[in-house]
Amino acid sequence: MSSVTFRTVSDAGPLPVVVVGAGAMGRAWLGAVAASPDVVLAGVVDLDADAARAAADTAPGALAGTDLAAVAAASGARAVIDVTSPAAHLPVTLQALALGLPVLGEKPAAASVAEALRLAAAAEHAGQLFMVSQSRSHHRQLRAFRDRARRLGRLGVLTTEFFRAPRFGGFRDTMAHPLLLDMAIHPFDAARYVLDAEPVSVRCEEFNPSWSWYAGDAAATAVFEMTGGVRYVYTGSWCGPGLETSWNGGWRLSGEHGTATWDGEGPPRVSSDPDADADLDPPAPDDGPQDIA
Ligand SMILES: NC(=O)c1ccc[n+]([C@@H]2O[C@H](COP(=O)([O-])OP(=O)(O)OC[C@H]3O[C@@H](n4cnc5c(N)ncnc54)[C@H](O)[C@@H]3O)[C@@H](O)[C@H]2O)c1
Repeated sequence: MSSVTFRTVSDAGPLPVVVVGAGAMGRAWLGAVAASPDVVLAGVVDLDADAARAAADTAPGALAGTDLAAVAAASGARAVIDVTSPAAHLPVTLQALALGLPVLGEKPAAASVAEALRLAAAAEHAGQLFMVSQSRSHHRQLRAFRDRARRLGRLGVLTTEFFRAPRFGGFRDTMAHPLLLDMAIHPFDAARYVLDAEPVSVRCEEFNPSWSWYAGDAAATAVFEMTGGVRYVYTGSWCGPGLETSWNGGWRLSGEHGTATWDGEGPPRVSSDPDADADLDPPAPDDGPQDIA
């Protein structure tokens, strides 16, 4: 992998940022910005001027508008948080990088691999950092699940089952690969974290159940070979009503000395075979479900 250099920011005072995208997740990011001493909200940009204004009004002095270049220049912003819908990640992030601003983006990095590679190239060309937020590895119970995986000896198979039936409305109803692009990225990344392994190959079948209310394929099964030979199997549906899993899905890890399971919310469970050095120390406290896509 080539090393990429990017400009770093000085640590003189909080970093003024513009949040682009004042939808559901954009408003969550406004809360994170408000809670951090390291950043200050300089402005909010959205295609919907009223939504941008309402979001900017949550912070004193923050500007609002529909044009990123204008808001960035007038507010003195030095970084952008891109929380737009996936189809807008490419144009918004390209524009921010061209303005000389580093970008913290929401997942998916872009709507396709080609677009994501284009963004990586643009970031390198601009000498600015483009990074995509990955929140799941900060989930306390996922970290506990990972810790328990370390005690199972050699690992065989990690599985995730994800079945929910949300009626979002909006971009997810019309995008081409709603489950894989907008949701499955979370468990795929979490699996890398749990196994401390990278995918070597993948076979995936994506399809749309006949009753699906999504235009794109809302169900998929993927089998990854990971480094070290472990298999990761994901199966999920976004139109799977009844006995729904948590938003993080249900997890099972099968290893040489036993099995660990996690319901995606509460403490993980471990069942080791009698010969193993089982260490069932108290589980980490529950930090609640993450009802987010
Ligand atoms: N990490 C997570 O847990 C998590 C959770 C939910 C959503 N997300 C991601 O956050 C992003 C936004 O999701 P959401 O649920 O807030 O969607 P949303 O539809 O509620 O909001 C998207 C906003 O972006 C605005 N927008 C679209 N194109 C734009 C453009 N070119 N310029 C400026 N504004 C534009 C829309 O007007 C809308 O207000 C998506 O990429 C989604 O996958 C991540």
